[in-house]
Amino acid sequence: MSNNTIQNSLFIKAAFSKPTERPPIWMMRQAGRFMPEYWEIKNKYSFLEMCKTPELAADVTMLPVNLLDIDAAILFSDILVTAEAMGGDLSFTQGVGPRFANPVRSQADVDRLNTEVGNKLQYVADAIKVIQQRLNGKIPLIGFAGAPFTVMSYLVEGGSSKDFKLTKLMLHNHPEMAHQLLSKIAKVTADYLNLQIAAGVNAVQIFDSWAMALSWDDYKEFSHRYIQEIISNLNRKDIPVISFCKGSSVFAPLMAQTKPDVISVDWNADLLDIKKTLPKGIAVQGNLDPHILYADKSVIKDRIHRLFERMRGEDGFIFNLGHGIMPDIPFDHVKYAVDIIKEFRY
Ligand code: CP3
Repeated sequence: MSNNTIQNSLFIKAAFSKPTERPPIWMMRQAGRFMPEYWEIKNKYSFLEMCKTPELAADVTMLPVNLLDIDAAILFSDILVTAEAMGGDLSFTQGVGPRFANPVRSQADVDRLNTEVGNKLQYVADAIKVIQQRLNGKIPLIGFAGAPFTVMSYLVEGGSSKDFKLTKLMLHNHPEMAHQLLSKIAKVTADYLNLQIAAGVNAVQIFDSWAMALSWDDYKEFSHRYIQEIISNLNRKDIPVISFCKGSSVFAPLMAQTKPDVISVDWNADLLDIKKTLPKGIAVQGNLDPHILYADKSVIKDRIHRLFERMRGEDGFIFNLGHGIMPDIPFDHVKYAVDIIKEFRY
């Protein structure tokens, strides 16, 4: 694979705020359940088996590449594999989502978590190598990890949560313990992203999906500083770093301080307004409300055009959703959206 071709791809150029003839497009959760072809694989293997078997992870990563013809692939894995490697007893159950059978609630639980996890995550490096062989330089591959606060929330709650009650109680009543837990996750996350970079990903995205649960001060103290620590420890030459959070409409000025190349914006804010507040050289990614993809095609077309007209002439714009594709969005609506975006010219 020629590194030159990848550096000249629409996605990498836009991520580094260089001019492109049109915005590149990929979608969060593009390798997932809205595709019937995903279910053909999922019906035979468990989700974790799919993540841990390089050939299967590569098969799923390639589905949107082949069926949607998007401009970047994203590694098929999950943000919780780091927490599992640290000692979390992780399972995924249909309809329930992720669960940790041994939630982290006490100092002893925090002390027990490992921070040397390279060997345990070798399967991800192996998957990246298989995927890059299959991509063969066609488009860049994005690696990813969860941000410490979001990963912590799963470890503490023992699964998904609506209000993050136990997590926020730990932040507020036991801040020292929370900081120890977050530091451990941050160390593992930086090592893990560097392992992905060494294995050959062309960009990395940090997902802080639940940051919007935090107040400004708590975001600064318990999320932002750990993302800063991770980003400053990445071997990032030629590798753009994308920082995503739900809550970015509010937290973008803080996110910019961590010096990512791209900020991925949720759908609450006007994307151009956000971009104008950022230092020059930080690109934006986003920010269509994923629910638009449920709507009639005429509505999908209209909303995509509106976003483009707003961003016309801006370097450093990657088209994406404000969050992931929902599993029951019709495949042909997603395909229609991608096709429209690819017709667009600046
Ligand atoms: O974007 C992609 O297509 C790449 C693969 C990917 C998955 N998860 C696959 C997945 C990525 C980037 C993730 C990240 C992830 N995982 C996040 C951050 C992104 C976001 O959307 O906020 C979070 C919070 C998780 C944790 C997680 N994993 C949850 C809450 C669930 C259950 C979701 C649900 O609605 O049931 C998962 C499982 C998961 N991760 C699936 C997939 C394809 C579904 C697994 C299945 O088939 O049952």
